[in-house]
Parts: sequence; C-alpha cells; structure tokens
Amino acid sequence: MGLAAGVATAPADAAPKAPSPGAAGIGDAYYPLDGNGGYDVGHYDIRLSYRPAGDELSGTTTITAKATQDLSRFNLDFLLKVSTLRVNNVPAKFATDGGELTVTPAKPIAKGTNLTIVVTYDDSPGKYKLYGFNAWKRTADGGALATDEPQIAPWWFPSNDHPLDKATFDVSIAAPKDFAVLSNGTFAGKSTQGNGLVRWNWRSAKPQGTYETSLVVGKYQVNFQTAPNGQPFVTAYGADLANPDQARASVERTPEILEFESTQFGPYPFEAQGGVVSTGLGFALENQTRPTFSDDFFTDGSDTYVVAHENAHQWFGDSVSVAGWRNIWLNEGFASYAETLWSEYLGEGTAAEVNQYAYDSIPADDPFWQVLPGDPGPDNQFDDAVYTRGAMALQALRTAVGDADFFKILKKWTKTRQYGNGTIEQFVGLAENVSGKPLQSLFTTWLFTAGKPAVGPNGASVSKALVAPKSFAKIRATDRKLAAAGG
Ligand code: TRP
Ligand code: ZN
Repeated sequence: MGLAAGVATAPADAAPKAPSPGAAGIGDAYYPLDGNGGYDVGHYDIRLSYRPAGDELSGTTTITAKATQDLSRFNLDFLLKVSTLRVNNVPAKFATDGGELTVTPAKPIAKGTNLTIVVTYDDSPGKYKLYGFNAWKRTADGGALATDEPQIAPWWFPSNDHPLDKATFDVSIAAPKDFAVLSNGTFAGKSTQGNGLVRWNWRSAKPQGTYETSLVVGKYQVNFQTAPNGQPFVTAYGADLANPDQARASVERTPEILEFESTQFGPYPFEAQGGVVSTGLGFALENQTRPTFSDDFFTDGSDTYVVAHENAHQWFGDSVSVAGWRNIWLNEGFASYAETLWSEYLGEGTAAEVNQYAYDSIPADDPFWQVLPGDPGPDNQFDDAVYTRGAMALQALRTAVGDADFFKILKKWTKTRQYGNGTIEQFVGLAENVSGKPLQSLFTTWLFTAGKPAVGPNGASVSKALVAPKSFAKIRATDRKLAAAGG
C-alpha cells in the first residue's frame, strides 16, 4: 500500500520484457533482504491459533497484493515452515530459506494483477533466528509476544517486511481460555471455538507497518475504555507485574498524552489508543495504537515520559515511517524530543532546558558524540545518540527557525506524509521551505558530523545550564533504557 508506482512506460514497439523474479529485498541500505520487490501489499488477514504449551502457531495468513512488475516468482519474508501456498487459488511452488519464502506461481504474473496469496502453516516460532537473533519472546506467564524492531513479522506471518509497504490488518488469534490475546486497532469481538480455544479479533483500518503490528498472548487484565475523544482505549496489564499501580499511573494517562501531543504534532492519526505492560522485557515499542511497555520502566515509580515517547511515535514512526532504516532519527530523535515537550507541559523543565542540560552534561570526549544520528549504521541503529543527540538536533532547529515555524514544520511533516514514509533529506527540505532559511549546515553539524557540536542546541548566547531540570534524570534514564533495547 502506498508504494510509489513506477511511471516509466516502455515504447510501444519495444519487445515485451520477459517476466522476472521479484527482488529478494526492497532496497534497504541497512537490511538488504528486508522487504521484497515486485508487488505491493494492501491487506493482511492473519487467522491463527496459538497453543503456548508447545509454542505451536498454526493457521492461515491471506495477503491481498498487486503485482508491480511482470513476475516469474516473488519472495515473502517468513521463517516458519509452510504447509500449503496458493496464489489466486492455484497451488504454487514454495521454499523457505533464511527468512526468505520464495514463491513460484504455476504461471507468470502480469504487472498490475491483483494477487490473493493464501499461506497455511503450523510451526514453533521459538526455533528460529534471523540476523543471529530470536525475536519471538516467551514470557514468564507462559505466553508469548511478537514485538520487536526492525524485524518481528517473519516469526508469525509471511509479509513484505519493510515500513515502505504498509497495509491494513485483520488479526484473529485463538488461544487457551486463560490467556488474553491483543493486537492493534479496534477490538472486533471474541468467541469460544468448538475446540475450547477462545478466538480474539482485532482490526487495523489505517495503514500499518509490519514491525508495528503486535501479537500479545498472556495472562493480562484487559480494560476496554473510551477516551474523551470517543476512541476505544484498550490497556492490558500483566497479572504478574511487580509494580502494577506505577504502570497504571503512567499508561492510563495515554489519552491525556495524546491530547497534548495532538496540539504539538497535529491530529492523532489512528482510530484507537492503548498500551500493554508486560514483565521483564527490558524495552518499550511503538506498536500502532497500542505500544508495549516492559514493567521495568515503572520500578522507580511512574514514568509518563516513556508513554509520551511511544505515543509520539504514533506520528513519527507509525504514521510517517522511515523510507529506509538509515532514517531512524526521524523516529527516535522526534519521540525523544516529545519527552522534553511533555516535561514542559508538566512544568518539570522546558524542552530548551532539558536539551541544554543533556548537551552540557555529556563531555566532549564521551564516545556518545562519535555516533552519527543521521546515519548510525545497522549496529548502532538505536544508539543513545540517535535518541538524545537526535532530540538536541530538533532543539537546535527550533532555535534557528523560531517556535512558530518549528511547530509549523512538525505539523506539515505529519500532514503531508501521513500514512506514508520519509527521508531525512525530505525533512530538511521541508524545514528549509517553511522557514525560508538555509539549514543544511545545521543538520550536517547535528546529524552527520562526529564530535560534540561547538555551539549548544540553544545557540551561542546560552551559557552552561547549571541546574538539572526536574525531569532530566528520568528522561535520560528512559532514553538510555530504550536505546539499550535496540542493542
Ligand atoms: N523503538 C523502540 C523505542 O525507542 C526501541 C527499540 C529499538 C526496541 N529496538 C527494539 C524495542 C527492539 C524492542 C525491541 O521506542
Ligand atoms: Zn523510540
């Protein structure tokens, strides 16, 4: 969905091109095999059963897509063993290897053809690794979680696994009756099946990236509420949380946080709100409409900053997604800057103060300053610098263009790229257009040059901030925890 169509047309007298294989990757500089070429997905219908005792995931995923080239074959990203596979009702040949599911239809597919791809499978996700890593998580309550970044989909549904190809989702999962099942968007009911499993149905009606799609199976207390704006607000708290009250004191404020963030970033782009808190994950992730939080964010009392961070990602990351993973600053720098805006709202220090204090408190010889937030490389994709220096870069932009243009830039970005993708270069271009100021050298300094910038995020006239803003320690700890989750 939303992939730019190729506009080149062959001259009328050119010989027809032979159908060729769709590329095994969508063209990501950091992860060459992520996503695929030759088709564009519109919708995923994921209809599975999960039996936690044997880590057994079985059922059918149906993908509707459109061919964007003449295809002799194409790939999906998937790790599990496939039982049957049909393309437009005709059985196709298939083979899985290292996260790539190669599909060879009985006959070549013409560009523009609508595809219905039906994949059935029955396997244990916990057996598989991609990039040397098992992202499928088993939890202490006996359940499982499919939440990770940049890759998680290959452990539970076949997909075009890249933020460039978003789609709508119906996620329907049956599990034993003592387990709750959550995913994204709105709840579409649950019912007990003949075999005793309870089937939970979820629907995301807005374009959603594959890594923002979550599966949560476990022992949770699930709350169905309505936010002041009328949207469903669904929260779930693990039955085994060490600090359930602190978790609630944070995540139950989601509607207020989204109201505040809407004033800063523009209208909330999705149809539902919520959050899931699990034990011992060590991370938080911006799953669409329903971020996931580890309860270790709430061991020192509440943390509304992590809630502000993950919900800011609904605009920056989920609605406007990276066009390639090298643009990760567009996610993490913005979500971390949002924490400093939330601090200002709470009266715990202005964004200018928090970012200045961060700049002042990290010495120039700290390795922190050696990572480039604008192109950190796959090994440092979620480095602390992408978050904290990334947030300082936005404060530096705000200083350069002034408050009015700064928030105009943020709102125009979320509006013009809503449900789409963006690159850092496109953001810089927009900032220059709105402000009428040349900004290349500012971004070169803050995003693409190793070393501590000589001038702080509030400009040359500001001297060292001596007093830590009230929120500083919490925000810094939250960002370091989030960065550590990324490895
Ligand atoms: N994007 C997450 C955040 O900051 C952090 C993150 C990076 C993460 N990689 C991850 C979370 C892997 C879970 C798993 O909000
Ligand atoms: Zn983040």
